[in-house]
Amino acid sequence: MKEVKIESTLQVFDSITELPEDIQELMSVAIEAREKAYAPYSKFNVGAAILLDNNEVVSGSNQENASYPSGLCAERTAIYYAGAKYPNSKMLKMALTASSQNQLTDKPIPPCGACRQAIAEYEIKQNLPIEIYFMGAKGKVVKSESLVNLLPLVFESSVL
Ligand code: THU
Repeated sequence: MKEVKIESTLQVFDSITELPEDIQELMSVAIEAREKAYAPYSKFNVGAAILLDNNEVVSGSNQENASYPSGLCAERTAIYYAGAKYPNSKMLKMALTASSQNQLTDKPIPPCGACRQAIAEYEIKQNLPIEIYFMGAKGKVVKSESLVNLLPLVFESSVL
């Protein structure tokens, strides 16, 4: 038996104003998307914005449904739209923001496990890391250089 240690390195920015200007802009698009979330059940709004290598920005928000599992997270709304609209472009950077309608969300909210798996698919497909920035409604912003930092031991298609 041997033990395997898995480590990830993330960067933490104190606030949105500490981010490089292009990421501040991308985060603003994510905030606009967040404000358009359809979240009448959870009251938890999430926005995502993705910068592509063709300079287009695709955004999305969570879309809920009375049949709860039929809803979709913001990250997958955005990434599937980007994949559908620009199938030959690479995704470079992704900004995420979440805000509860019930309380101040002042800590960074990472993407859920299912969204990490969806993001992994595109990172592997394009053979280029996707930078991911995530925050709450205010406060610190976390940067991951690649999805791999957020989902070690990813399940991927080479085993199929
Ligand atoms: N949600 C997202 O949009 N992204 C995540 O990564 C986590 C959760 C949404 C799904 C649902 O509409 C609400 O947040 C509460 O779970």
